[in-house]
Amino acid sequence: MKRIALFYILLITVCPAFAQNYDESKVPHYTLPDVLKTTSGKAIKSEEKWEKLRRPEVLKLFEDHIYGQMPTEYDSIRYALTEDDGAEMNGRAVLKQVGITVFRKGKSVLINLVLFVPSQAKKPVPVFLLINNRGKENTDPTRAKKSEFWPAEMVVDSGFAIAAFHVSDLAPDNKDTYATGVLQKLYPEQLKKDNGMKAIGAWAWGASRVMDYFQTDKDIDSKKVIVVGHSRGGKTSLWAAAQDRRFAACVTNCSGNTGAALARRQYGERISRINASFPHWFNNNYKKYNDKENALPVDQHMLIALIAPRPVYATNASKDLWADPKGTFLALKAAEPVYALYGIKPELPKDAPGIDKPVIGHRFGYHNREGEHNMTSYDWANFIRFTKGF
Ligand code: GCU
Repeated sequence: MKRIALFYILLITVCPAFAQNYDESKVPHYTLPDVLKTTSGKAIKSEEKWEKLRRPEVLKLFEDHIYGQMPTEYDSIRYALTEDDGAEMNGRAVLKQVGITVFRKGKSVLINLVLFVPSQAKKPVPVFLLINNRGKENTDPTRAKKSEFWPAEMVVDSGFAIAAFHVSDLAPDNKDTYATGVLQKLYPEQLKKDNGMKAIGAWAWGASRVMDYFQTDKDIDSKKVIVVGHSRGGKTSLWAAAQDRRFAACVTNCSGNTGAALARRQYGERISRINASFPHWFNNNYKKYNDKENALPVDQHMLIALIAPRPVYATNASKDLWADPKGTFLALKAAEPVYALYGIKPELPKDAPGIDKPVIGHRFGYHNREGEHNMTSYDWANFIRFTKGF
């Protein structure tokens, strides 16, 4: 027993990547990159200059240094729809299952979309789209299994449609096989580039193809699609919303490192650790920032800023220090100056709110739920409140 303890102490001493900090007093002093200053030092003072000069620059920095390129061209896309009478929810919603096949250079990828649309709806409805990184049973179309992770009944009863696809349709979440989906089939050239997309990029790409489908579905208000993700899925929902401005809003649940939490705080999970455990998530260039957070030309507040002026809801859970609740709140707060360029007044309090005290504004939502790393009906109830007057 003692030997094991000694081994861990040694490991922590010799290998800083394993020493994660949970002590606020040990958060180093840091300065965030100025989201409103271009790389060449030009101050950005208007929406127009942000849109024209700085936003494209910031997007490219995230692409080159973290998430990889996002290819948008493909040859064709086909939708195979099956619709039923809604027996799964006793008539409260109609179930649509859509096979979305995307073709490029003779090869294809199939994304399976599950979608429930409230049957009472008189006009096209807004939809929550979950990027599902957990088991497929969480989004069971038959509703034999029900899960708080995707509480379809609750969402439908609130007047929204709810949809989901599984990340494995795009890229298996595995360092040895992640390339066997979209990457090898549609965009093999991406695998050769240091700024090429990897699994998280492929999942976000999938969300955009679902968006392509929504634009053809008369039951859905495609101007009101809220992209949702938990944890690694929440890192993806941010990247999807940053890249694809058709998403009207973003929910990033417990997304932590390389999601909504500031990297420079070096609190909880760090870049070196995420790259070691999940080398298939981010591009090759990102590995250069292991233990070098301050060398990054961006921090995560800038990813949120790319979503401006659209609404963003970020969450944490009180026991999930790994995902740095305070660093998540601070990232949202540090994105506010970009929203201000669009005439949006700061909505967030100076300090992070207490546990189970949601802050729900027009553009920003935040809460730190009591409990573990998860996405629950408490979280969803707040997402619904946030997007209600949509
Ligand atoms: C790991 C990983 C996190 C990630 C989480 C998840 O804990 O370190 O970065 O968010 O898995 O996806 O559940």
